[in-house]
Amino acid sequence: MSFDLIVRGGRLADGRTADIGIRGETIAAIEPRIEATAVRVIDATGDLVSAPFVDPHFHMDATLSYGIPRINKSGTLLEGIALWGELKPLLTHEAVKERALKYCDWAVSMGLLAIRTHVDTCDDRLLAVEALLDVKKTVAPYIDLQLVAFPQDGFYRDPTARQNTIRALDMGVDVVGGIPHFERTMADGTRSVTELCEIAEKRGLMVDMHCDETDDPLSRHIEQLAYETQRLGLKGRVAGSHLTSMHSMDNYYVSKLLPMMAEAEVSAIPNPLINIMLQGRHDTFPKRRGLTRVKEMQALGIRVGWGQDCVLDPWYSLGTADMLDVAFMGLHVAQMSSPADMAKCFDMVTNVNAAIMGLDHLGVAVGKRASLVVLDAGDPVEALRLRAERLCVVARGKVVAERPKRDTALSLNGRPSGVNRRHEASLKNPT
Ligand code: FE2
Repeated sequence: MSFDLIVRGGRLADGRTADIGIRGETIAAIEPRIEATAVRVIDATGDLVSAPFVDPHFHMDATLSYGIPRINKSGTLLEGIALWGELKPLLTHEAVKERALKYCDWAVSMGLLAIRTHVDTCDDRLLAVEALLDVKKTVAPYIDLQLVAFPQDGFYRDPTARQNTIRALDMGVDVVGGIPHFERTMADGTRSVTELCEIAEKRGLMVDMHCDETDDPLSRHIEQLAYETQRLGLKGRVAGSHLTSMHSMDNYYVSKLLPMMAEAEVSAIPNPLINIMLQGRHDTFPKRRGLTRVKEMQALGIRVGWGQDCVLDPWYSLGTADMLDVAFMGLHVAQMSSPADMAKCFDMVTNVNAAIMGLDHLGVAVGKRASLVVLDAGDPVEALRLRAERLCVVARGKVVAERPKRDTALSLNGRPSGVNRRHEASLKNPT
């Protein structure tokens, strides 16, 4: 018996130590010790071996455009949308593709192997849609790229968004998106949720809507989204992204809303880096932070994943394609500080996000696709604490990124301190 690749001695997220044997694109064995030969063996002794990182909310058509043609002065969502409107006529197919591919390289180096990106359909040329469909094909050997038809300027508010969104779906975009809180009236927002869910139902597609991305406690489109999910039989196929208004909603109302979301099996995708940056900008003090009610939803069994949303674009001036940064911020803002909650945050940016995107083939188990990440950390919590280095990234059975382990101790005033990041970690987490 032989394998194409063995990842030896790694620690799995559940605490087991195991060898992982890979044949072709598939995980063929997970055993305490595999006595077999392999074309290549990766020594992961003591390192965390995890399922790949997954980002369920991104904007790849806008990424790496920071500063073009100017920066967002107010830091608000609305100025970001206006700025994107200025940038859109300047876009070219080549430039969108080049930036997206560069971002995909960053993603792979961070072990981020599945991304759901929204793509703006409010452009009669549908240039970004065509460019990202090309990118999807190019990166398919190492990244699962899922596209969401996203009418950024409003499905009804923009005069041609409706027809262009439908055209984008005809071209092969995977998921139906929307932005009900940006329509002209609450009633139009509600109507847009209904029509977009009906489109998804007819086409057998998933739904992922930007929903209630506002500090207005009365923005309640998530209620309609849960209702339509139930009515149209879309259970398990629908996600509400952002849901920031829930931060400000009346508690009694939320006590009715969350069980409805749970019943409809609607997932939630908060984007902590962006939510904490954009929300509360109209407040003085106390200043709301705009993160939705993560722990409260999880307590009711609602699937909640952390999304990244933006990297270097009209809405956000930072970012590195690192889902550990996203989870780290989410952990803080949602106050998920217990060991169990911290471990859950790691699970959110790997397995939970994969489940939200319907990617059943990902995960560390026999029969799953051989896509794995080896991290310079002993367990998921340590990975979060250190935002640990990705030592090796395997996609579909092939090593696609590697970096040497940095074992050198820190030097203090020219003398070795005897302390490196891992030593420090083991002192703080004696096990
Ligand atoms: Fe977004």
